[in-house]
Amino acid sequence: MARETLPVIVTNRLILREIEEKDCFDMFEYASLPYIGPVAGWQPHTSTNYTKSVIKMYRNKYQFGQIGVYAVHLKENDKMIGTIELHTLTKNFKAELGYTINPKYWGCGYAYEASREVVRFGFDDLNLKRIECCSFIDNLQSKRVCEKLGLTYEGIRKKGYLLYDGTIHDLLCYAITDEEFYDRVRLETW
Ligand SMILES: CC(C)(COP(=O)(O)OP(=O)(O)OC[C@H]1O[C@@H](n2cnc3c(N)ncnc32)[C@H](O)[C@@H]1OP(=O)(O)O)[C@@H](O)C(=O)NCCC(=O)NCCS
Repeated sequence: MARETLPVIVTNRLILREIEEKDCFDMFEYASLPYIGPVAGWQPHTSTNYTKSVIKMYRNKYQFGQIGVYAVHLKENDKMIGTIELHTLTKNFKAELGYTINPKYWGCGYAYEASREVVRFGFDDLNLKRIECCSFIDNLQSKRVCEKLGLTYEGIRKKGYLLYDGTIHDLLCYAITDEEFYDRVRLETW
């Protein structure tokens, strides 16, 4: 598959652009913390070189039919404060929304703000029919982001996730279809 760069997305306070190697220092700042990666399904980063290798892997996702990963930057100072992506993508069908924000910036609505535009991109530009967002059941912040977005709660996928350490976890599942999304657009609630 040919390499395509993700289109830049601009929101009120954020600029989303495809993650690049130079984001490694800002990413390492939060990805090295012990309580971030494990709740999102990945191991804490052990060095900036490891972070660089993760970014390289993200940028190579297109080889596997995936679109890649957005770095979330603050407009005011260009600080990279997290990532957001539509992963586990099946072309013209569905994908899963995933996000991580540096804890220094939690609770400011950034995950919500970025998600709104990434979901819009998924339906408008990628022609998706369904976008899912799943988290471990005790991840109340992610649950809240899904609720704020107005995604439909679909229940618990019991033993739905095998973590890198071999432990198995239940998943809290939310989703939105293209019809639900365009209804919301028509009602100007998206
Ligand atoms: C999930 C995550 C991306 C949210 O980022 P964020 O930018 O803080 O999200 P937002 O500010 O848009 O929304 C968070 C909401 O959770 C609420 N919240 C925070 N702590 C909470 C708690 N302990 N219980 C319930 N709600 C909580 C916030 O108040 C906010 O809701 P509000 O706007 O109604 O006040 C961030 O917590 C994170 O990176 N977590 C680690 C990685 C992760 O879990 N990724 C998702 C894996 S599926």
